[in-house]
Amino acid sequence: MNHLQASIGKTRFPNPLLLASGVAGASLDKVLSFLSRGAGGVVTKSIGLRPRKGYPPPNIARLEFGLVNAIGLSNPGVTFFAKDLRNRNLERVIVSIFASDPRSFASIVSKIDKYSFAGYELNLSCPHVKGIGTEVGHIPELVSDVVKAVKKNTKKLVIAKLSPNTERLVDVALAAEDAGADAITAINTVKAMVIDLESGKPALSNKYGGLSGAAIKPIALRCVYELYQNIHIPIIGCGGISKWSDAAEFFLAGASLVQLGTAVAYNEDIFVMVSRGLSEYLAKKGIMDYRELIGLAH
Ligand SMILES: Cc1cc2nc3c(=O)[nH]c(=O)nc-3n(C[C@H](O)[C@H](O)[C@H](O)COP(=O)(O)O)c2cc1C
Repeated sequence: MNHLQASIGKTRFPNPLLLASGVAGASLDKVLSFLSRGAGGVVTKSIGLRPRKGYPPPNIARLEFGLVNAIGLSNPGVTFFAKDLRNRNLERVIVSIFASDPRSFASIVSKIDKYSFAGYELNLSCPHVKGIGTEVGHIPELVSDVVKAVKKNTKKLVIAKLSPNTERLVDVALAAEDAGADAITAINTVKAMVIDLESGKPALSNKYGGLSGAAIKPIALRCVYELYQNIHIPIIGCGGISKWSDAAEFFLAGASLVQLGTAVAYNEDIFVMVSRGLSEYLAKKGIMDYRELIGLAH
């Protein structure tokens, strides 16, 4: 028996550990390679309506407790990306998309919905691109309109990825749930900055970036815990997970699945290690199914 079998709606994953959006870069082949390296599922880099260059280097700062990135949603655009989706079985693949308004979100969906992937993750939460991301994702009414516009154009899973950079996290999640979202991913990166002592100026070309990795785990856990008390759709926990015990903490706080991002950049075999650690923990505790852990911290 597989103690780690996971699902969102009717979509099944062999384990609840998904690759988070963006960290593996924009190549679909690279993202898919993690399915054979133990990931239960993968989320692609966020795709927009048109190609975007993103910000010039320096756009990533490596700190001892995580990364600050301002890649700036660089991506080849949906028309180019669609060619990669052709004639492939992508049943464990979630496509991340971003736009600045409901109509543009729907337009992206209408261009790729005919391909066979599991669903969409709506990036409503990038902290460092003006007019996109957090600027959409902290307004509950706008999030509701985005989710409705996407749902109207697809029968696949629709997952809203939220930002911790707002006081209105729960309001935004409730708006997404009421509008028909199938799950919530929490969280994207935390708005941050690094100063370069040589120049005496911000280290990233965009000045602001998003903090990820170990430093944000307690923030992400708090968000998941708070969401679990207020919404009924599944929560996908994300932020600073690099060990089986981190994942277990997220399940206890209320996550049904988790995503791994920054940790994958340091160890591409992390999914196998985390799965193994979780299985050993369940066996030691005599628990038959990891889902028994979900929400136990409440
Ligand atoms: C280099 C880099 C690129 C990212 N690109 C995206 C992206 O395109 N879309 C998105 O929704 N999140 C993106 N993220 C955020 C991650 O998916 C994740 O939400 C965040 O890093 C927190 O998880 P972690 O601490 O495990 O990395 C990116 C993160 C990093 C470090």
